Amino acid sequence: MTDALQMAKRTVKELLEAGLQVTPEALSTMLANPNLASLVISRIRDAGGALVLTEDDIKKIVEEGGAQKAASINTPSKEEEPKATPILELKPALTASEVDEEFEVVMDPTRVIGTSGTLDDFVNYFKDRYMRLSNLLLKRGDVKGAHKTSEVGKFKEARVIGIVKEISKVRSGSMTIELEDLDGTVSVLIPVTLADKARNLMLDQVVCVEGKKNGSYIVANNIIWPDIPFDHKPRRANDPVIAVFISDTHFGSKKFMEKPFVRFIEWLRGERGDEKIRALTKQVKYLVIGGDIVDGVGVYPDQEKELAVEELYTQYEVAASYLERIPDYVKIIAIPGGHDATRQALPQPAIPREYGEPLYEIGVEVLGDPAYFKIHGVEVLCFHGDSLNDVMATLSIDPHHPEKAMVELLRGRHLAPIYGSTPISPEPIDLLVIERVPDVFHCGHLHVNGQENYRGVVVINSGTFQDQTDYQRSMGLTPTPGRPYIINLKDFWVAQLDFTGD
Ligand SMILES: [Fe+2]
Repeated sequence: MTDALQMAKRTVKELLEAGLQVTPEALSTMLANPNLASLVISRIRDAGGALVLTEDDIKKIVEEGGAQKAASINTPSKEEEPKATPILELKPALTASEVDEEFEVVMDPTRVIGTSGTLDDFVNYFKDRYMRLSNLLLKRGDVKGAHKTSEVGKFKEARVIGIVKEISKVRSGSMTIELEDLDGTVSVLIPVTLADKARNLMLDQVVCVEGKKNGSYIVANNIIWPDIPFDHKPRRANDPVIAVFISDTHFGSKKFMEKPFVRFIEWLRGERGDEKIRALTKQVKYLVIGGDIVDGVGVYPDQEKELAVEELYTQYEVAASYLERIPDYVKIIAIPGGHDATRQALPQPAIPREYGEPLYEIGVEVLGDPAYFKIHGVEVLCFHGDSLNDVMATLSIDPHHPEKAMVELLRGRHLAPIYGSTPISPEPIDLLVIERVPDVFHCGHLHVNGQENYRGVVVINSGTFQDQTDYQRSMGLTPTPGRPYIINLKDFWVAQLDFTGD
């Protein structure tokens, strides 16, 4: 048997074993590229999909594969040469100061929220969550014709969309869940064969379960999340402008890392780095801040001992005193986090002028949490990330990999799926449903950097500028301060900067 034939047989076997169907064109593309099948299978598995793969899907996976991880760039002191030669290519000449800003708010909760928080509000909130997420599910080709829980008895095979109300582990690795829709509930047995998929299930998520009826319950043979569609076409800017993403600056905290932040500002001013790095700086048009701008006051017991600045308004003055040194042509967009001066329940309105006046005065675009906006045509979903702790604890995700929890939020298309420990305000519209597919999904909150590319969405957690706190030390959490991400909005080249060294 020739090598080519052996290779072809191996590829077909791999695809069959993975349960994937492919179009003839997609198959010949894979046969022409010996290691492509393994990459495609692993991506589809990660994404939880079971699809008929087209040639376009494969092209997309290949493109994403090439842009999987951010380049790493040291930003040396004014005098020094770079510590390591960065993987940099000079982009077409562009000076951000000569390019008009293109900024559009798509959704800011500040303008829409308002609830009394009654029991009726909560009932209506969950109805709205169910309706919005089931509509997203029904857009998928493989969820058409779903049944209501009340209809399940009429069919041998059922497909039900519901909110996950209970999850119970039973013997031998299988589990049972209770699915609830607007009609009632149904019990679902998830066999051990679906255990890999089922371990991503979270309470209060809306999912579709397919399976066979057995008495009063369904034996599942598939679980489908709303997820990011494979055919999402990421939007790109026409100009190679750069957006910088930072989070959790915690101005006012004794642990605020002033030196790295000053280096960061100097970099934005074009005062650091060699020719290549300065050329990069000139392309910066946007700075996005993912919340916890200040450390706040009274956020946790005895916080005053940790504060360098004890007055909330003054903390924002300090923040503004640093940010105002950034060149005027860089648009700054900021959302709040749990330490900022606004309500804690999600969605959070923007920091009010009463406290955030210094930010408004220097022209910062102050939005709520979460916020959707477009910069140069690229849609960003910026969410502080309060729910990430819950997601990580529930799914046993290593807290040093926040991007994995962020991907789970995208898969379930909800920013705070588990009701309980993350405070949620029962708004008439569930603004935490990820109704729009963003091009960039940016979070902070965990103080740990992470980056991923999930079905064409750039997922970034931009870390912090605060040193390790005593609480984090006691929890064994090692933050990654001083390492913002940059994205070229035209070609989606992602890089991580490092301002920790002199
Ligand atoms: Fe924080």
